[in-house]
Amino acid sequence: MKAVVVRRGESKPRVAEVPKPTPAPGEALIRTLRVGIDGTDHEVVEGNHGGFPEGEDYQILGHEAVGVVEEPNGTRFDAGDLVVPTVRRPPGESNAYFERGEPDMAPDGAYLERGIAGAHGYMSEYFVSDEQFLVGVPDDFVTDGFLVEPISNTEKAIEHAYASRSAFEWEPASALVLGNGPLGLLTLAMLVQSDDFDRSYCLGRRDRPDPTVEIIERLGATYVDSRETPVSDVPDAHEPVDFVYEATGYAPHAFETVSALAPNGVGALLGIPSDHSFEFDGGRLHRELVLQNKALLGSVNSNVRHFEAAKASLSSFPDWFIDALITGVYNPDEAGRAFETGDDVIKTVVEFDTV
Ligand code: NAP
Ligand code: BGC
Ligand code: ZN
Repeated sequence: MKAVVVRRGESKPRVAEVPKPTPAPGEALIRTLRVGIDGTDHEVVEGNHGGFPEGEDYQILGHEAVGVVEEPNGTRFDAGDLVVPTVRRPPGESNAYFERGEPDMAPDGAYLERGIAGAHGYMSEYFVSDEQFLVGVPDDFVTDGFLVEPISNTEKAIEHAYASRSAFEWEPASALVLGNGPLGLLTLAMLVQSDDFDRSYCLGRRDRPDPTVEIIERLGATYVDSRETPVSDVPDAHEPVDFVYEATGYAPHAFETVSALAPNGVGALLGIPSDHSFEFDGGRLHRELVLQNKALLGSVNSNVRHFEAAKASLSSFPDWFIDALITGVYNPDEAGRAFETGDDVIKTVVEFDTV
C-alpha cells in the first residue's frame, strides 16, 4: 500500500510502497480518509522531534487521522464506522498510565507516539489500531474529523488550567493565544466560543493582509503583532489576561507569559522548542508567580476523554472557519507539496480516500 514516510538520513517526506498491515486480535483495520499535518510533523521530518520505530529505516508520518473501519476483526466497531485514533501506545508491555486511561501523563520511555516517537503513523492507505485507542465519530466528520486530535490537545490543556485554579473562585474573562499556527487558531476558535472569555487576543508576527490575521479578526479576537507588542507588554498595550495559551514553540514566550498574566492567572505551555539559551530575570518571574498567585503549566498529548470533548468543539465551529483553516488538500503522491510552508499555508491535509 501507499504511505508517506521519512527515511533515516533524509529530511523530506516521500511516498513509498509499504506492507499493508494485518490486524492482530483486539485490533481493527482502518481505511484512511484524511491525515492532517501540524508543526510537530515538520519537526519529525526535520529530525528535531520524536524518532524512528526500532529497527526500521523509515517512519510512516502522521498522527491526526480520520478513517473508516474496514475490518472490525471482533472489536466493538462495525464495518463502515468512522473513527479517529489517539496517538500514544504502550512501548511493548502496557503500564499503569495506559491502564488508567491516562497515557497522556506517561513520562518519556513509558509510551510511543504514532507518527512521532518510535511508531508508524497513519499517513498510509490503511492502518491498524487496538480498539481501545479508536474513538468513534459522527458520519459528518468524514472531511474534518482529523481535527479532533489537535483540538483534544487543547481540551486537555484547558482542563488542566482550570484544575490548577479550582481551589478558589476563578472568574476568567480574557485570554491570549500565542501563535497563529493551526494549533493557536483552533484554540482561539474554542476560546471565543467559551462563555468564560469575553475578550480574546492572538499573537503572531505577520504583516497584513494575512489569512491568519483575517481569521483572528473574523473570530472576533484582537490580533497582537509580537514585533510591535512583545508578550510582556500585552498588559500595557491591551490588558493583563487571565489565561495564556502558548503555541509558538518560541522559548522566551514561556517566561514572558508570566508577565502577561493578571493576578491569579494561569499560563498553559504547549509549544515544543529546540534548545534555546537566553537571558531572563528569573527573580522577577519567581516573584510574580508567588506574590500574584500565578500558575504556569506544561501540557502535552491528550486521552480518550479529551477526544470525546473535542468532538463537540469541532461540531460547534462555523463552516467558514474550517474552510479558511484548511489551505490545501493533497493526494499522497503530492506529499512534498503537502509539507510546503509559506504565509498562505495554514493547515494542509493528505487525502487517501473520500469515504
Ligand atoms: P506552527 O505551525 O509551527 O505554528 C507556530 C506559530 O507561531 C506560527 O504561526 C509562527 O508564526 C508563530 N510564531 C512563532 N514564533 C513567534 C513569535 N516570536 N512571535 C509571534 N508568532 C510566532 O505549529 P502548530 O502546529 O500550530 O503548533 C504550535 C506548537 O505547539 C509547535 O511547537 C508544536 O510542536 C506544538 N504542539 C504541541 C502539542 C502538545 O500536545 N503540547 C500539540 C500540537 C502541537 P509564523 O508562521 O509567522 O512563523
Ligand atoms: C501531538 C501530540 C503529541 C505531541 C508531542 C503533538 O503534535 O498532537 O499528540 O503528544 O505532539 O509529540
Ligand atoms: Zn499534533
